[in-house]
Amino acid sequence: MKQFAPSCDQNKDEILAVLQEVLPHSGVVLEIGSGTGQHAVYFAQRLPQVIWQPTDLQPNLASISAWCTEAQLANTRVPLELDLLSDRWPVTSAYAVVCINTTHIVSWPGVENLFAGAGRVLAPGGVMYVYGAYRYATRPLEPSNEKFDCWLKTRDPVSGVRDFDAVNALAQRNGLQLTEDRAMPGNNRSIWWTKAVRCPGVSCQ
Ligand SMILES: C[S@@+](CC[C@H](N)C(=O)[O-])C[C@H]1O[C@@H](n2cnc3c(N)ncnc32)[C@H](O)[C@@H]1O
Repeated sequence: MKQFAPSCDQNKDEILAVLQEVLPHSGVVLEIGSGTGQHAVYFAQRLPQVIWQPTDLQPNLASISAWCTEAQLANTRVPLELDLLSDRWPVTSAYAVVCINTTHIVSWPGVENLFAGAGRVLAPGGVMYVYGAYRYATRPLEPSNEKFDCWLKTRDPVSGVRDFDAVNALAQRNGLQLTEDRAMPGNNRSIWWTKAVRCPGVSCQ
Protein backbone atom coordinates (compact mmCIF):
# COMPACT_ATOMS: atom_id res chain seq x y z
CA MET A 1 0.00 0.00 0.00
CA LYS A 2 2.76 2.45 0.98
CA GLN A 3 4.26 3.72 -2.29
CA PHE A 4 7.60 5.50 -2.61
CA ALA A 5 8.46 7.98 -5.39
CA PRO A 6 12.16 8.95 -5.57
CA SER A 7 11.19 12.21 -7.32
CA CYS A 8 9.12 13.19 -4.28
CA ASP A 9 12.21 12.94 -2.10
CA GLN A 10 14.13 15.39 -4.29
CA ASN A 11 14.13 19.00 -3.13
CA LYS A 12 11.80 18.27 -0.20
CA ASP A 13 14.05 20.17 2.20
CA GLU A 14 14.24 23.17 -0.12
CA ILE A 15 10.43 23.11 -0.45
CA LEU A 16 10.07 22.76 3.33
CA ALA A 17 12.26 25.83 3.88
CA VAL A 18 9.87 27.89 1.71
CA LEU A 19 6.77 26.40 3.36
CA GLN A 20 8.20 27.28 6.78
CA GLU A 21 8.41 30.85 5.57
CA VAL A 22 5.06 31.18 3.82
CA LEU A 23 2.52 28.95 5.57
CA PRO A 24 0.26 30.34 8.27
CA HIS A 25 0.92 29.79 11.96
CA SER A 26 -2.19 27.66 12.38
CA GLY A 27 -5.12 26.23 10.46
CA VAL A 28 -5.71 23.71 7.71
CA VAL A 29 -3.27 23.30 4.83
CA LEU A 30 -5.03 21.65 1.91
CA GLU A 31 -2.57 19.66 -0.18
CA ILE A 32 -3.73 18.84 -3.72
CA GLY A 33 -2.13 16.01 -5.68
CA SER A 34 -0.48 14.51 -2.59
CA GLY A 35 0.84 11.54 -4.62
CA THR A 36 2.32 8.79 -2.47
CA GLY A 37 1.84 10.68 0.82
CA GLN A 38 5.58 11.16 1.43
CA HIS A 39 5.32 14.95 1.36
CA ALA A 40 2.25 15.02 3.62
CA VAL A 41 4.09 13.18 6.39
CA TYR A 42 7.43 14.93 5.88
CA PHE A 43 5.93 18.41 5.94
CA ALA A 44 3.32 17.79 8.66
CA GLN A 45 6.03 16.46 10.99
CA ARG A 46 8.10 19.60 10.51
CA LEU A 47 5.19 22.08 10.51
CA PRO A 48 3.41 21.01 13.68
CA GLN A 49 1.51 24.29 13.93
CA VAL A 50 -0.74 23.43 10.95
CA ILE A 51 -3.20 20.63 10.20
CA TRP A 52 -2.25 18.84 6.99
CA GLN A 53 -5.13 17.69 4.79
CA PRO A 54 -3.82 15.46 1.98
CA THR A 55 -5.93 14.84 -1.13
CA ASP A 56 -5.55 13.10 -4.47
CA LEU A 57 -7.42 10.86 -6.89
CA GLN A 58 -8.98 7.77 -5.29
CA PRO A 59 -6.25 5.26 -6.34
CA ASN A 60 -3.60 7.21 -4.40
CA LEU A 61 -5.48 7.45 -1.11
CA ALA A 62 -4.39 4.04 0.20
CA SER A 63 -0.70 4.93 -0.02
CA ILE A 64 -1.25 8.35 1.57
CA SER A 65 -3.19 6.67 4.39
CA ALA A 66 -0.44 4.11 4.88
CA TRP A 67 2.22 6.83 5.25
CA CYS A 68 0.01 8.81 7.66
CA THR A 69 -0.94 5.76 9.73
CA GLU A 70 2.68 4.73 10.09
CA ALA A 71 3.80 8.24 11.10
CA GLN A 72 1.06 8.59 13.75
CA LEU A 73 1.17 12.39 13.64
CA ALA A 74 -1.43 14.42 15.49
CA ASN A 75 -1.67 16.96 12.66
CA THR A 76 -2.46 14.88 9.56
CA ARG A 77 -6.06 14.32 8.51
CA VAL A 78 -7.47 11.27 6.74
CA PRO A 79 -6.74 11.76 3.02
CA LEU A 80 -9.70 12.77 0.88
CA GLU A 81 -10.52 12.31 -2.78
CA LEU A 82 -10.14 15.58 -4.68
CA ASP A 83 -10.28 15.44 -8.46
CA LEU A 84 -9.19 18.68 -10.09
CA LEU A 85 -11.43 17.91 -13.04
CA SER A 86 -14.41 18.33 -10.76
CA ASP A 87 -15.41 21.56 -9.04
CA ARG A 88 -16.92 19.67 -6.10
CA TRP A 89 -14.23 19.80 -3.44
CA PRO A 90 -14.43 17.85 -0.17
CA VAL A 91 -12.96 20.78 1.79
CA THR A 92 -14.72 24.14 1.97
CA SER A 93 -12.19 26.23 3.87
CA ALA A 94 -8.42 26.31 4.34
CA TYR A 95 -5.70 28.70 5.40
CA ALA A 96 -3.38 27.51 2.66
CA VAL A 97 -3.48 25.39 -0.50
CA VAL A 98 -0.30 23.55 -1.50
CA CYS A 99 0.06 21.92 -4.92
CA ILE A 100 3.43 20.37 -5.78
CA ASN A 101 4.41 18.97 -9.20
CA THR A 102 0.80 18.73 -10.31
CA THR A 103 -0.05 21.69 -12.58
CA HIS A 104 2.01 20.09 -15.37
CA ILE A 105 0.22 16.75 -14.91
CA VAL A 106 -3.45 17.77 -14.99
CA SER A 107 -5.07 19.19 -18.12
CA TRP A 108 -5.59 22.97 -18.35
CA PRO A 109 -9.22 22.73 -17.11
CA GLY A 110 -7.75 21.03 -14.03
CA VAL A 111 -5.39 23.98 -13.51
CA GLU A 112 -8.35 26.35 -13.93
CA ASN A 113 -10.29 24.41 -11.29
CA LEU A 114 -7.26 24.45 -8.98
CA PHE A 115 -7.18 28.25 -8.91
CA ALA A 116 -10.97 28.64 -8.87
CA GLY A 117 -11.10 26.22 -5.92
CA ALA A 118 -8.27 27.96 -4.09
CA GLY A 119 -10.05 31.29 -4.57
CA ARG A 120 -13.20 29.72 -3.12
CA VAL A 121 -11.81 27.89 -0.08
CA LEU A 122 -9.02 30.19 1.06
CA ALA A 123 -9.65 32.56 3.91
CA PRO A 124 -8.69 36.22 3.24
CA GLY A 125 -4.93 36.43 3.67
CA GLY A 126 -4.64 32.68 2.92
CA VAL A 127 -1.79 31.38 0.77
CA MET A 128 -1.84 29.45 -2.49
CA TYR A 129 1.54 27.73 -3.09
CA VAL A 130 2.66 25.82 -6.18
CA TYR A 131 5.96 24.15 -6.94
CA GLY A 132 7.26 22.81 -10.24
CA ALA A 133 8.57 23.81 -13.65
CA TYR A 134 7.07 26.87 -15.39
CA ARG A 135 7.60 28.57 -18.74
CA TYR A 136 8.30 32.34 -18.97
CA ALA A 137 7.63 34.65 -21.92
CA THR A 138 10.84 36.55 -21.16
CA ARG A 139 13.30 33.66 -21.64
CA PRO A 140 13.54 30.28 -23.36
CA LEU A 141 12.58 27.23 -21.35
CA GLU A 142 15.65 25.60 -19.81
CA PRO A 143 16.81 22.54 -21.86
CA SER A 144 16.02 20.18 -18.96
CA ASN A 145 12.45 21.55 -18.74
CA GLU A 146 12.07 21.48 -22.55
CA LYS A 147 12.92 17.77 -22.44
CA PHE A 148 10.55 17.28 -19.50
CA ASP A 149 7.74 19.08 -21.37
CA CYS A 150 8.28 16.84 -24.43
CA TRP A 151 8.19 13.74 -22.22
CA LEU A 152 4.99 14.92 -20.51
CA LYS A 153 3.23 15.65 -23.81
CA THR A 154 4.25 12.33 -25.35
CA ARG A 155 2.81 10.56 -22.32
CA ASP A 156 -0.34 12.70 -22.20
CA PRO A 157 -0.92 15.48 -24.76
CA VAL A 158 -3.08 17.52 -22.36
CA SER A 159 -0.27 17.78 -19.81
CA GLY A 160 2.83 19.98 -20.04
CA VAL A 161 4.89 22.71 -18.41
CA ARG A 162 2.53 25.65 -17.86
CA ASP A 163 3.04 29.30 -18.79
CA PHE A 164 3.67 31.39 -15.71
CA ASP A 165 1.69 34.32 -17.18
CA ALA A 166 -1.37 32.16 -17.88
CA VAL A 167 -1.25 30.64 -14.39
CA ASN A 168 -0.75 34.03 -12.77
CA ALA A 169 -3.71 35.44 -14.75
CA LEU A 170 -5.87 32.58 -13.43
CA ALA A 171 -4.74 33.34 -9.90
CA GLN A 172 -5.61 37.03 -10.28
CA ARG A 173 -9.03 36.20 -11.73
CA ASN A 174 -9.70 34.25 -8.56
CA GLY A 175 -8.70 36.96 -6.12
CA LEU A 176 -5.13 35.75 -5.53
CA GLN A 177 -2.33 38.30 -5.61
CA LEU A 178 1.17 37.21 -6.56
CA THR A 179 3.42 37.35 -3.50
CA GLU A 180 6.64 35.79 -4.80
CA ASP A 181 8.03 33.64 -7.61
CA ARG A 182 11.28 32.11 -6.38
CA ALA A 183 13.89 30.05 -8.25
CA MET A 184 14.46 26.60 -6.79
CA PRO A 185 17.05 23.88 -7.53
CA GLY A 186 16.70 21.90 -10.76
CA ASN A 187 15.04 24.76 -12.67
CA ASN A 188 11.91 24.54 -10.56
CA ARG A 189 9.95 27.40 -9.04
CA SER A 190 8.17 28.08 -5.79
CA ILE A 191 5.32 30.48 -6.53
CA TRP A 192 2.81 31.74 -4.05
CA TRP A 193 -0.15 34.09 -3.98
CA THR A 194 -2.16 35.65 -1.17
CA LYS A 195 -5.95 35.75 -1.13
CA ALA A 196 -7.06 39.35 -1.19
CA VAL A 197 -8.60 40.71 1.95
CA ARG A 198 -11.98 42.22 1.10
CA CYS A 199 -13.04 45.30 3.02
CA PRO A 200 -16.81 45.86 2.70
CA GLY A 201 -17.56 49.20 1.09
CA VAL A 202 -13.87 49.97 0.59
CA SER A 203 -11.88 49.45 -2.60
CA CYS A 204 -8.88 47.33 -1.51
CA GLN A 205 -5.80 46.92 -3.69
C1 LIG B 1 3.80 14.17 -10.37
S1 LIG B 1 2.64 13.71 -9.16
C2 LIG B 1 3.09 14.74 -7.81
C3 LIG B 1 2.83 14.11 -6.50
C4 LIG B 1 3.40 14.86 -5.29
N1 LIG B 1 2.78 16.15 -5.11
C5 LIG B 1 4.90 14.99 -5.44
O1 LIG B 1 5.38 16.11 -5.64
O2 LIG B 1 5.56 13.98 -5.40
C6 LIG B 1 1.14 14.43 -9.74
C7 LIG B 1 -0.06 14.13 -8.87
O3 LIG B 1 -1.22 14.70 -9.48
C8 LIG B 1 -2.28 13.83 -9.23
N2 LIG B 1 -3.36 14.09 -10.18
C9 LIG B 1 -3.42 13.78 -11.49
N3 LIG B 1 -4.60 14.14 -12.00
C10 LIG B 1 -5.30 14.72 -10.99
C11 LIG B 1 -6.59 15.27 -10.88
N4 LIG B 1 -7.42 15.30 -11.92
N5 LIG B 1 -6.99 15.74 -9.69
C12 LIG B 1 -6.16 15.73 -8.62
N6 LIG B 1 -4.93 15.19 -8.65
C13 LIG B 1 -4.50 14.69 -9.82
C14 LIG B 1 -1.67 12.46 -9.43
O4 LIG B 1 -2.48 11.43 -8.90
C15 LIG B 1 -0.35 12.64 -8.73
O5 LIG B 1 -0.42 12.31 -7.38
